[in-house]
Amino acid sequence: MTGSLSSVDKAKLTAAMRSVEYIEDGMCVGLGTGSTSSWMIRCLGLKARRENLNLTCVPTSNSTEKLARQVGLKTIDADKVKEMDVTIDGADQVDGEFTLVKGGGGALLREKIIASSSSLMIVIADSGKRVETLGAYPLPVEVAPFGLPITKSQIDDVLGSLNYISRSIGLRMNGSKPFATDGGNHILDLNLARIGNAGVLSSHLNMVPGVVENGLFVNMCDIGIFADDKGTVETRNVKEGDTRTDDADMHAFDALVAELGI
Ligand code: 5RP
Repeated sequence: MTGSLSSVDKAKLTAAMRSVEYIEDGMCVGLGTGSTSSWMIRCLGLKARRENLNLTCVPTSNSTEKLARQVGLKTIDADKVKEMDVTIDGADQVDGEFTLVKGGGGALLREKIIASSSSLMIVIADSGKRVETLGAYPLPVEVAPFGLPITKSQIDDVLGSLNYISRSIGLRMNGSKPFATDGGNHILDLNLARIGNAGVLSSHLNMVPGVVENGLFVNMCDIGIFADDKGTVETRNVKEGDTRTDDADMHAFDALVAELGI
C-alpha cells in the first residue's frame, strides 16, 4: 500500500498524521511550508472534511496557500488575524533544547511571524532531523536585495566577532538567478559547522540592517513530533518536559495513504 512512499516520506506523513489530532473545530491554524507541512495540510484537509470542521487557516507561503485551497481548507491572509490557536510546521534541524533551524524552503520570515503569534507551535519532522548540535545544516538568513554585498560582509563580521572560525556564506540561487522569497527578499545560507549559542547568534544577526530575519527559532516550539519510517512516534511536550514514545496506528496510516491516493 505504501510502496510508492520513500522511507523519509513515510516518516514525515506519520508525524503529520499525528499532528492534526491537535486540531479542533473552530480553530485558527497556521500552516507551515515544506514537504512535511504539505503532508500535514493534506491530512488536515481530509480531517476537516470527514469531521465537518470549521477551520480558518493562515498559510506561511504562496505554495502552502495553493495546496490548502486545493484540499478544501479555508485560508485567510495574515493581515486579517492577530493570533493563531496553533501552528504546525516542519524544520530542517532540531536540537535537544528544541531550537530549530528553518528556512530550507525559503519561507522562514512568514513562518516565524506566524509561529510567534500562535498559542501552540507544533513542529513535525522525520526523526533524522534531530541533532545534538545545530550547524551541519546551513543557517538560512533572509536579507533585503538592496546592498546585498554590504549585508553579507556585515554578517561575516558578526560571525567573526562571535568566533565562528570555520564559516562561509552562500547566496541561495534559483537556476542562474538569486532565489527570491515570497516577499521578494534573498536568502544567504550560513555554513557554520556548529552553532553554539543560538539565542546570541540570532539576536546579533538581526542587528545587521539588511537582515530581515534569520532561521533560528529559539524557544518557539511547544510540541515536537518526530516519526521514523517504522511508525514509531516520539512526542515531546517542551513546556511540560515530558516525552511519549508510541507506535502509529498502521491501519489508520494505510487508510490515510489510500484516501490520499498515494
Ligand atoms: C521552509 C522550512 C521547512 O519547514 C523546512 O525546510 C523543512 O522542510 P521539509 O519538511 O521539506 O523537510 O523551514 O522554510
